[in-house]
Amino acid sequence: MAGAALRLASAGILKNKKLTPASPSAESKPATVFEASALTKVYDMGEVRVRALRGVDLKLYEGELVVLLGPSGSGKSTFLNILGGLDTATSGRVTYRGTDLTAARERELTLYRRNYVGFVFQFYNLIPSLTARENVAVVTEIALDPMRPADALELVGLGDRIDHFPSQMSGGQQQRVAIARAIAKNPSVLLCDEPTGALDSATGSLVLEALERANRTLGTTTVVITHNSDIARMADRVLQMRDGRIVSQERNPTKKSAKDINW
Ligand SMILES: Nc1ncnc2c1ncn2[C@@H]1O[C@H](COP(=O)(O)OP(=O)(O)O)[C@@H](O)[C@H]1O
Ligand SMILES: [Mg+2]
Repeated sequence: MAGAALRLASAGILKNKKLTPASPSAESKPATVFEASALTKVYDMGEVRVRALRGVDLKLYEGELVVLLGPSGSGKSTFLNILGGLDTATSGRVTYRGTDLTAARERELTLYRRNYVGFVFQFYNLIPSLTARENVAVVTEIALDPMRPADALELVGLGDRIDHFPSQMSGGQQQRVAIARAIAKNPSVLLCDEPTGALDSATGSLVLEALERANRTLGTTTVVITHNSDIARMADRVLQMRDGRIVSQERNPTKKSAKDINW
């Protein structure tokens, strides 16, 4: 039997639920997607033990776009990797739609990642010998409910580049292929670790616009790690991390469009 992913499916969890209140007047709170409590991570390096997370308590809600800021080494990537099932916590708990990820076995985490999580990293990790469409198809071929690769590429503004190879594209275009690849499986959550870290401002803007469009169009709960506090203006909520803890959480009173952000 298939474990967490199947239990998630049989619990009737809908992917990409949109924020549609039952009635406009009803006070409807978006569903909780992730809940972390007292989450810690210690990397045991023999002589030294690195305490990367020192007790993270946080909820992330359906459909929101969250920016996670914080200095280098503050634990941002560690936290994102645990949310995405790429790493496991040392203590504490994190649930995904009520299912305890910290209790999941490796096989269950693999299915969880495959079916529900899209990742975007600083470096695009495209396969050089495959076209944009083929790079996306690598993922859609094993996904439960994928988009057409061409549609995903269209969504990130690369409809005219589907048959291009990575070497024929700029860094920003390659990163948008990576975003198309991440969203093409229709993930429930999109986790982005410094997606514009290797890009200049103009190119980075297009990448942020692609993320914004995916978040809006698909309702995918999205977390973006960045060093750049200007980028935080496009978020619904901004989290600050320091020394392995979330030290502030703020809701942006007005959200800026990615295309109006300069840095
Ligand atoms: N695989 C690892 N092994 C040992 N230490 C690690 C590992 N990954 C991260 N760390 C340490 O954990 C701390 C937090 O790292 P990280 O989560 O990458 O921070 P950030 O993404 O905010 O820069 C750092 O001190 C880092 O050196
Ligand atoms: Mg990092």
